[in-house]
Parts: sequence; structure tokens; C-alpha cells
Amino acid sequence: MSSNSVDTIFEIILNRRSIRSFTDREIPESALMKILEAGWQAPSAGNRQPVEFILIKDPSIKQKISAQEFVEEAAAVIVVIVNLERTTSRYGDRGEKMYIYHDSGAAVQNMLLMCKALGLGSCWIGAFNDERVSKLLELPEHVLPMAIIPIGYPNEDPEPPRKIPLDKIVHKDRYEETKIKEYLMSLVD
Ligand SMILES: Cc1cc2nc3c(=O)[nH]c(=O)nc-3n(C[C@H](O)[C@H](O)[C@H](O)COP(=O)(O)O)c2cc1C
Repeated sequence: MSSNSVDTIFEIILNRRSIRSFTDREIPESALMKILEAGWQAPSAGNRQPVEFILIKDPSIKQKISAQEFVEEAAAVIVVIVNLERTTSRYGDRGEKMYIYHDSGAAVQNMLLMCKALGLGSCWIGAFNDERVSKLLELPEHVLPMAIIPIGYPNEDPEPPRKIPLDKIVHKDRYEETKIKEYLMSLVD
């Protein structure tokens, strides 16, 4: 990979922000396809590919899917779902308790980064009513909603959030509890 590509991907990672306000501008189909392809190409445990997507543009569904009002403003919403059977059939409990979260998280992050690369804003929504979403989207019992991603052209440019410094969360050879504890205590004082 060229050093240009490394700089580009790092710039996208660093500058991606959660966007919670969108303009009315339509999103081209080709951009939505690129975002979905980015999710599709994410890794999954054992390549079981339990992750699927529901692309929503219908205003009445967008309005009902989340209590967070900015979701409705987005030109498109992607709901990331997992087909539990595809992973539990091989991995049983580990698939249900662990891999579905890894697999869907990888797909979500790929899509958020692709949104940023395309000049679009998006936000990872994890706070939603599972039952309500499942009913609204007519999901069968073995299919679970994992994340909601509103997407649109950004109508805000938020500041980066404060991060714990990298050297406080990178441990050498074993977990060094005191360094992170001391840092967190220094914030309280
Ligand atoms: C698992 C997960 C769930 C999240 N759920 C919500 C949510 O329900 N509503 C929301 O506005 N933001 C949500 N976020 C976005 C975070 O608040 C956001 O990523 C964080 O504040 C850091 O800001 P940044 O994305 O701009 O770096 C969620 C993020 C993650 C990873």
C-alpha cells in the first residue's frame, strides 16, 4: 500500500465524527451502494457472514425507528441486523455471546468510515428499542437488530471528543492497572 493510501485512511479514521444533524440533500444510489459494500466486506468469525442490512428511505419508517429525533432527518438509514442461526450453527454460545457483536461492529465501522470518505455524515446508534425495531422491520426471531446508522450530508462540524491519552491505555506485556487508575483519578481532582 502506498504511503498516500496510508495517510488517506488515517485521515479518514482521525476525522470521522458522529454527525447528528443533516441537510435535505439526497444521497446518490452509487454512494449508498459503496457504503453497503464496505459493510459487506467486513470480516466475520469463520466467514459465517451473519450480518445483513436493511436500507430505509421511507419517511414513516425512519420516523418510527428511533426516539432520537435526528435519525428521522437523515436521507437514508441503514439498520444492521444479524442472522443468529448462521453463527450459532457453528459456534453455539460463543457465536451468540461474542461473535455477533464483533461481526456487526466491524461492519458498522467500515460503513462509518466509507460515509466519511464520501463526504457523508453518520452516527452509530446503539440505544434503541429492540422489540419495537424488530416489529417495525418484520424481523423473524432468529434475526436481531444490532445498530442503526442514519446517513446524510452533514449539517454540523463537531469538535473531536476528548480521548484518554494513548499511552494510558496501551499496556506493555501485562495489564498495568495503576497507570489508568492514576489518570482517571487525576481527572476527578
Ligand atoms: C456502540 C455504540 C453505541 C452508540 N449509540 C449512540 C446512540 O444511541 N446515540 C448517539 O447519538 N450516539 C451513539 N453513539 C456515538 C457515540 O456517542 C460517539 O461515537 C462518541 O461520543 C465519540 O464521538 P465520535 O463518534 O464523534 O468520535 C454510539 C457509539 C457506539 C460505538
